[in-house]
Amino acid sequence: MRAVRSTHPANLFLPRVVCGRGTKSVASLLLSLELVENASSSRGQASSRDSSSNPSISSDNNPDLPWKFSDTNKEKVKEILSHYPSNYKQSAVIPLLDLAQQQHGGWLPVSAMNEVAKIIEVAPIRVYEVATFYSMFNRSKVGKYHLLVCGTTPCMVRGSREIEDALLKHLGVKRNEVTKDGLFSVGEMECMGCCVNAPMITVADYSNGSEGYTYNYYEDVTPKRVIEIVEMLRRGEKLPPGTQNPKRIKSGPEGGNTTLLSEPKPPPCRDLDAC
Ligand code: FES
Repeated sequence: MRAVRSTHPANLFLPRVVCGRGTKSVASLLLSLELVENASSSRGQASSRDSSSNPSISSDNNPDLPWKFSDTNKEKVKEILSHYPSNYKQSAVIPLLDLAQQQHGGWLPVSAMNEVAKIIEVAPIRVYEVATFYSMFNRSKVGKYHLLVCGTTPCMVRGSREIEDALLKHLGVKRNEVTKDGLFSVGEMECMGCCVNAPMITVADYSNGSEGYTYNYYEDVTPKRVIEIVEMLRRGEKLPPGTQNPKRIKSGPEGGNTTLLSEPKPPPCRDLDAC
């Protein structure tokens, strides 16, 4: 078995291994093993590992559990598929997984991934590869409010580790654990594109199903502010997303602009007839 470079666009960054007569991503191999094991368990055969040693097999996450999109979401599925040519249904894999995750309270059981594979008419492994590659897809339970701390360099140098420590300590959980009341979990994300307002967190709110799902950024946060945000969420209060620094407007400088204060001059030759 040796590592090779994948040429499949969906798998450019997935490590792949030569195995038997072809190559497979590591994600494919792990999920294949998991499903083979699930299949043998469901046939009542002896398994070398049981659910107590394999946390991915459980009463709420196995391929025998029925999983369907709700009636409302079936309409959304149709709408999503309408964006793609009928012979490229597989291009809808990410929005369909996203919708399935919203419907399922923030995570994707294997039976939801199998349903997506059925809809877009691909082998389930093609869906598992995508779901295991993108960190926005959760393969185990998360809280109704899943708090994601950006851990990339600009946020880190501006204090993201202190932000995460404050959240974990306040909620009494480890990273990716769910609080006992099921309300909160804390994860980590890479740069979410608002480094100018670092440090920042995202709140994925699954408390109102896919209809009321929101994914909001809270920027310029401090350890004190993120705890206030948690408590406001607990009380069901609406939070203003964006910068949490009252002295900033969006991503403008604190205290107002210090440069570029006058109206910009137009270019000298805008009126070509006058040149
Ligand atoms: S580094 Fe955190 S948003 Fe870019």
